[in-house]
Amino acid sequence: MRKKMVIGNWKMHGNLHNISELLQEILTNFPQQSQCECVVLPPSIYVAHTQKLLQNSRIDYGVQNIYPQDEGAYTGEISGIMAKEFGCKYVLIGHSERRNLFGENDNLIAQKFNYTKNHHMTPILCIGETLKERESGLTEEVLSKQLSAIFKQSAALEDYIANSIIAYEPVWAIGTGKTATPQQIQETHHYIRNYIANHYAVNSNSLTILYGGSVNERNAQEIFAIDNVDGGLIGGAALDSNKFLQIIAAF
Ligand code: PGA
Repeated sequence: MRKKMVIGNWKMHGNLHNISELLQEILTNFPQQSQCECVVLPPSIYVAHTQKLLQNSRIDYGVQNIYPQDEGAYTGEISGIMAKEFGCKYVLIGHSERRNLFGENDNLIAQKFNYTKNHHMTPILCIGETLKERESGLTEEVLSKQLSAIFKQSAALEDYIANSIIAYEPVWAIGTGKTATPQQIQETHHYIRNYIANHYAVNSNSLTILYGGSVNERNAQEIFAIDNVDGGLIGGAALDSNKFLQIIAAF
């Protein structure tokens, strides 16, 4: 189902004290009339702490990564069963930092996507091109390859795709302070929605497509107003309650 969403990806930031402070400030000041769904993704060691703080609130949470097995000799990894036991509803998959720093390829990302679906959590699938790819005119090719690598592996496509979240994050805009221009965002989101409509038996109008990459309290309103943008995946600005609340209020 298509939603308006703001998701905070905390990456490897935070400690018990400042996570408590951040969430308390967000909970106290959350705009009551907001239609926007809000999700935070803490480092997995802080998921239990986050769960306690967010009990009975309208903010959801999830994990930044998962391993596609229920248990086993996979040192350092956590499973979907574990994430679910602590109430996680969302799993971030295919973030460019996972792809680039930890060598995750489309095949592993597809396994993680399927696994998350099988465990009835919502995958937030990140896709995006590098600067070199954009400058070489390869953006659409890269995105279609990333999408088709994931989506070809499914039987029940409608439910599988339509109830997922896609985050378009140009790699060159992540953590750099450079955002894509409104025109680039509009064209790319339009391309993603059309590509899915043309290749799969899915009503792509029901798909939630977020933009990520240096979204902040100053540019959020302009970005969220762009056609086909359903919200944002926020990194740096999600660590500051004031900025994050202003981004939520931008809806
Ligand atoms: P940023 O990160 O907002 O700090 O650019 C976005 C992301 O990596 O999801």
